[in-house]
Amino acid sequence: MKELGFETKAVRLQSQQTHQKEHSVPLYLTSSFTFDDAAEGAAIFAGEAEGNLYSRFSNPNTDEFASKIAALEGVESAVATASGMNAIFTTFAAHLKAGDHVISAQAIFGNSTYILNTILPQWGIECTFVDAREPEQWEKAVRPNTKLLYLETPTNPTLDLIDLEFVGNICKANDIIYVVDNCFATPYLQRPAEFGADIVIHSATKWIDGQGRVLGGVIAGKKALVDTCYGFIRRTGPSMSPFNAWVLSKSLETLAVRMDRHCSNALAFATFLESHPAVERVIYPGLQSHPQYELAQKQMSAGGGMVSCVVTGGLEQARNILNGLNIFSLTANLGDARSIATHPASTTHSKTPKDVREAVGIEDGLLRFSLGLETVEDLIEDFSQAAK
Ligand SMILES: Cc1ncc(COP(=O)(O)O)c(C=O)c1O
Repeated sequence: MKELGFETKAVRLQSQQTHQKEHSVPLYLTSSFTFDDAAEGAAIFAGEAEGNLYSRFSNPNTDEFASKIAALEGVESAVATASGMNAIFTTFAAHLKAGDHVISAQAIFGNSTYILNTILPQWGIECTFVDAREPEQWEKAVRPNTKLLYLETPTNPTLDLIDLEFVGNICKANDIIYVVDNCFATPYLQRPAEFGADIVIHSATKWIDGQGRVLGGVIAGKKALVDTCYGFIRRTGPSMSPFNAWVLSKSLETLAVRMDRHCSNALAFATFLESHPAVERVIYPGLQSHPQYELAQKQMSAGGGMVSCVVTGGLEQARNILNGLNIFSLTANLGDARSIATHPASTTHSKTPKDVREAVGIEDGLLRFSLGLETVEDLIEDFSQAAK
């Protein structure tokens, strides 16, 4: 049978109907499950029979969400976690041991840097950080004990791209577990497993929820690797709640149409910013002016919902523009139906020393926008009146 399309999978892959014949999947708000008899309980516990035991281990809602993500990412298996950070931490904790070495892109989410820089060294695990703009550094960073390589693309907030296939080949040649945080792109725009990723991680809190309601994370990839993460989650407890899984599974049904609009709004907004006198530089992977436009065309199906720009007047002008916005929300989140404006240098990256920040392109005049689902002309007008 012909493989189902992305949207069909996102809408139609769901838990089995109950005897009520409901059309929309119900919420299984239960911490444990019963057995027909003692023998069934023993068989499920022993792994000899299928069935739910306890919602830290499995639940129809979390299983439905995880299996939809696996199908959408085109991988064998997935497991859901309470947040994106849990997905990242679990992946490291489940696969690494003292004496192992990790290679990571330098430009990753701040809390991921904290895990690699502060927590893992306490357990004898070292990390080398690579500047994504210097691809030759990936190979140079490989050591005999390198176990895992970690990156995000597009990067936050500078929207640089990393060549997924290029890095994937290095991982394959050196038997390194290749892990990609695909949060910024979503499986609708980019499927890292097609370029060799062994594990794909999401903060489902962002575009996957898409309406700023719940936290969630997911680890998707090769079955043996996901199983190791599942064993860790089952015993240590960062499982996704059934309610959050139910919300996120519903959200996936609209991911494709939402992302189409986020992307078209972002492209229109970025195109407008390019000709605005208050803007020195616009960064958007869907614009031909992006230095890696060709790579974006290769590994993403559209430029995504995030746009960054550097304003001409530095910190003062960046703050004035933020203060003048009426529609954009001022918050450090992203991936919402509501458009969001952020000043990374004074919020998400305020703890990074100024020289390090500037070296990776996070200037004082950099603004980051998460384009929502409002009428794009209104968003353009909002920026215009704020930047007057
Ligand atoms: C790229 C990326 N990965 C992971 C996370 C962490 O996700 P969560 O907030 O769901 O723990 C974030 C959060 O902002 C993020 O932007």
